[in-house]
Amino acid sequence: MTQEVQPSEVGNDRQAETVAVVAPSNAADLDGEGVNVFEVDQLDVFYGDFQAVRDIALPIRKNEITAFIGPSGCGKSTVLRCFNRMNDLIEIARVQGTVSYHGIDLYSDDVDPVEVRRRIGMVFQKPNPFPKSIYENVAFGPRIGGYNGNMDDLVEEALVKAALWDEVKDKLDESGMALSGGQQQRLCIARAIATSPDVVLMDEPCSALDPIATLRIEELMLNLKNDYTILIVTHNMQQAARVSDRTAFFSVDVEATQRTGYLVEMGTTTDMFTNPTEQQTEDYITGRFG
Ligand SMILES: Nc1ncnc2c1ncn2[C@@H]1O[C@H](COP(=O)(O)OP(=O)(O)O)[C@@H](O)[C@H]1O
Ligand SMILES: [Mg+2]
Repeated sequence: MTQEVQPSEVGNDRQAETVAVVAPSNAADLDGEGVNVFEVDQLDVFYGDFQAVRDIALPIRKNEITAFIGPSGCGKSTVLRCFNRMNDLIEIARVQGTVSYHGIDLYSDDVDPVEVRRRIGMVFQKPNPFPKSIYENVAFGPRIGGYNGNMDDLVEEALVKAALWDEVKDKLDESGMALSGGQQQRLCIARAIATSPDVVLMDEPCSALDPIATLRIEELMLNLKNDYTILIVTHNMQQAARVSDRTAFFSVDVEATQRTGYLVEMGTTTDMFTNPTEQQTEDYITGRFG
């Protein structure tokens, strides 16, 4: 495996080589002050009596890709769903603490969860196009949002951004379900960005895809981060290393009676993969645990 770490980001004494880290070609300026789109503090999520995650605090920087990694069941999806109030749709879920979005408390009573989900779109593990035409999949969100501009242009623009236009421009009336898995996932990304969101959440978006389709989505993410802030849950550490600017590593208390997840540490992806602060992170990243 090759190791390409930006020399400026690696101090002289921190050359521990664990996993290949290839800094994205358009890597963000990680040393700069940057703007936080989200600030999470003291976040606890419960499903009924079960506490799924505890005391999560982390910032999300604008126009970066932030990866959530960690063993299955440590609460990555649970935390991700807090960023657009998707947990509201799970009856037994209860969210405590603060998720602030551009300084606004996302969970305050006067925030409309539907508007939140327009601004903060989501792409799921299994591509889930609607049983509608390719065109209607993309037009769906803008239409229910009352968009009254030129829909053809908007659909084209979203499909171009999602790197799907060339493959579908001659068959926009065909079903979205007839596309390949990778194309379906890009259609779901087009659908998510058609409503002009600010943030796109992706929960293991490539886990149902083959390696070539996976690389296309990763390439697409790197292009999209110029326009959007992206959060991705992935169990593929190479993927986190390839695409993300920052990585948050979650784990679970295995000895406790309840398997409550928590954030072990978060840092630039380069640091997390070459010089993590916590032994636990190093063990996970080098495959000794998880
Ligand atoms: N809808 C739900 N109802 C009850 N428990 C849930 C629900 N979703 C997740 N959990 C539990 O919360 C914990 C964290 O799950 P999840 O966020 O899916 O973890 P990850 O995405 O890291 O695999 C697990 O113990 C899981 O069983
Ligand atoms: Mg999950």
